[in-house]
Amino acid sequence: MSSLPDSNSKGPSSKSVGCVFHNPAMAGSRTRSVMLIAHAIESGMLGKSEVRALDGLSASGLRARRWLNELPAESASRLIATVGDMTQTALDWAMATEADFPAQQGELHPLLGDLRTSVLSQGWHWIDIDPFGSPVPFLDTAIQALARRGVLEVSATDTAALSGSSKNPLMRRYGARVRLDKLKHDSGLRVLMATVARAAARHDRSVEPLLSIWDSHHLRVSVRVRRVMEGANDVEASLGWRVYSPNQAEVEAAIAAGLLPASDADELPIRCFLPLSHPVAREDLRISGPMWIGPMGDVETMASMTEERVLQMCAPTYEEGDLAEWSEKDFEAERRRVVRAIRHIAGESTAISAHHLIAVDELASWQEKGSPPSPRRMVELLREKGYNAALSHYAEPSFRTDAPWSEIIDSMKKISATDV
Ligand SMILES: C[S@@+](CC[C@H](N)C(=O)[O-])C[C@H]1O[C@@H](n2cnc3c(N)ncnc32)[C@H](O)[C@@H]1O
Repeated sequence: MSSLPDSNSKGPSSKSVGCVFHNPAMAGSRTRSVMLIAHAIESGMLGKSEVRALDGLSASGLRARRWLNELPAESASRLIATVGDMTQTALDWAMATEADFPAQQGELHPLLGDLRTSVLSQGWHWIDIDPFGSPVPFLDTAIQALARRGVLEVSATDTAALSGSSKNPLMRRYGARVRLDKLKHDSGLRVLMATVARAAARHDRSVEPLLSIWDSHHLRVSVRVRRVMEGANDVEASLGWRVYSPNQAEVEAAIAAGLLPASDADELPIRCFLPLSHPVAREDLRISGPMWIGPMGDVETMASMTEERVLQMCAPTYEEGDLAEWSEKDFEAERRRVVRAIRHIAGESTAISAHHLIAVDELASWQEKGSPPSPRRMVELLREKGYNAALSHYAEPSFRTDAPWSEIIDSMKKISATDV
């Protein structure tokens, strides 16, 4: 377990000069980071020898400390972790806690300086970028500093921009627009993913999404980055538009591009994706994008994030008794928080390639039905019909499915009929 408290109260502790920033609300993000790096090492994604990992904007260094302390011993022993920050106080703090509670395996080193240049001091297998605000200024050099096979984790806290509330910063930083609706956070994640993918392409790299999460005050995408010329040239194939309330011609274009099942031709869904090549009008308020329109996660990576595994790796147990001031109840609450960080992710892996992400509230109002159907029930019915469907780890009660729109509506009607 982590040797520093990393609980789930809301909001940053401090940003002021001389203080080291620590945001307890990022505990879930750090838990997923531990799970992700464990899977990447164990699956061979990062090769077979040492793993050079940079917690690039580290503040207290808690993220890197958690990698070292919580990874299984064999994986931790391969980890050469570095905490990077432009403030000496932050690095002093990170290294002092390491001196007091040394990691049992692996190594921890400091890297002082502006990440935009310090990242180039060596090659890395793993780079974590967790800024105040937008990650855009850090992307180009981080991608150049990645080894042939690497993973990049990118957070953004400029949520007002990415979810479409602040339109000018969104256009300025990400060159995109997002419709303010039930899927605005998913659209924001896809815009961020597209931004990372384009940055990778500029440096002849391609990305494969591993995990994408919107979590209260921040968005985060994690990608595998490879040096593949063809992949880099192909980035536009994974980019496109999201259209709210598409017309018949748009639905047909989506079907022709493989972005909806062919049987969707008869019923118009709430939304669909369109390829980047599809002409869209600048003033059309139904359109969001350009954004990533491919899967936002990797099946195996997401499937590895099980409740059992997260409890085993990241949760404290009362018997350990190494936090004397904690009661049994505190331990139980912490275990629940740890589980919440990965809730639905393993199950969602089965439907992560599906084109429909459906918020049940919106589905009910779209169909002019009173109460929204239970997303769990929708998933059960669609699975019984043989489709992929799963609850999603998303800000709204929602599910993903590859079922045709007509089957989604049919399932909803069945649930409404039995609820009467
Ligand atoms: C949001 S905090 C990081 C939080 C941390 N990753 C965590 O999990 O708690 C951002 C940190 O980046 C540092 N920082 C800001 N701009 C930087 C830059 N250009 N280069 C290096 N560090 C920077 C700040 O000093 C701050 O400690």
